[in-house]
Amino acid sequence: MKVTIIGGGGRVGSNAAFALQCAGIVSEIQILDANADLAEGEALDLLHGSSCVGGQRIYSGDYARAKDSDVVVITAGLRRKPDESRLDLINRNVALFSQILADLKRTGLRGDVHVFVVSNPVDILTQLAAERLGLPASQVYGLGTMLDTARFRSLIARDLSLAPTQVEALILGEHGDTMVPIWSSAAYAGLPLAKVVGCTPSFQTQVFEKTKGSGAEVIRRKGGAGWAVGLTIAEVVHAVALDRKTVLPISSVQTGAYGLKHVALSVPTVVGRRGVLGHLDLELWPKELQALQTSAKALQDTYKKISVT
Ligand code: 2OP
Repeated sequence: MKVTIIGGGGRVGSNAAFALQCAGIVSEIQILDANADLAEGEALDLLHGSSCVGGQRIYSGDYARAKDSDVVVITAGLRRKPDESRLDLINRNVALFSQILADLKRTGLRGDVHVFVVSNPVDILTQLAAERLGLPASQVYGLGTMLDTARFRSLIARDLSLAPTQVEALILGEHGDTMVPIWSSAAYAGLPLAKVVGCTPSFQTQVFEKTKGSGAEVIRRKGGAGWAVGLTIAEVVHAVALDRKTVLPISSVQTGAYGLKHVALSVPTVVGRRGVLGHLDLELWPKELQALQTSAKALQDTYKKISVT
């Protein structure tokens, strides 16, 4: 499977490429970036390791060479400032993103290509891509709250001394200020999380606030996320590559699950070789469902405001 990463010269894109390389599941990785020299530098640095792991074909290229990609991952975008909400990024990134979509359409894409949006505000840009590219809806999706969910699980595990890979806890909705913690189905190795010592209501509030603030904290401390977001991007790509049918909180334009339509946000989504295969209708608590619908409304209001050319 060939993956092209538009924005692959940046931290998120290059870390995603490294995660894909280490897993050795995809066969070809093209790094594409507005800064061609940086793209070539990252591709070379990755290629130098291909005799140690993965063995993929890794190179820097251009839109013309993106035509035969199975998945086009778009990570290009201006980074959020620490005190800036993701939605504040919107107009700065919508213009840049619209140009990328135009370039992809101009050079042509295979009818079965997937476009996987990571750039922020990811939900808004996922909806824009779905509306602009004319691809089947199942083939356009965004990273959504995958990173938030990874952070949520990892911080819960750290603070409660649990095995991180056995913590099941979802963040749904917007990858942003209105994201929703889902405690109703949270578990540790099958045990409801609320029954785990230390998982008190005040702990739950505190660990969710830490999760929600993680993006800004990483930006403040090191300039922006890279390693964890790279791993979550690879997890989605691998669900596609191996037709895993994994249920993942990725963003896609909703068609009715949880009463949501005409908005892109994250709900539990079955992901396989054809992309979005379906959604899982979890029994959410009323307050969780309400928060999810509030998140959708915030995104719909914002989507109406964006100035798209
Ligand atoms: C974050 O939350 C990059 O939006 C991403 O760090």
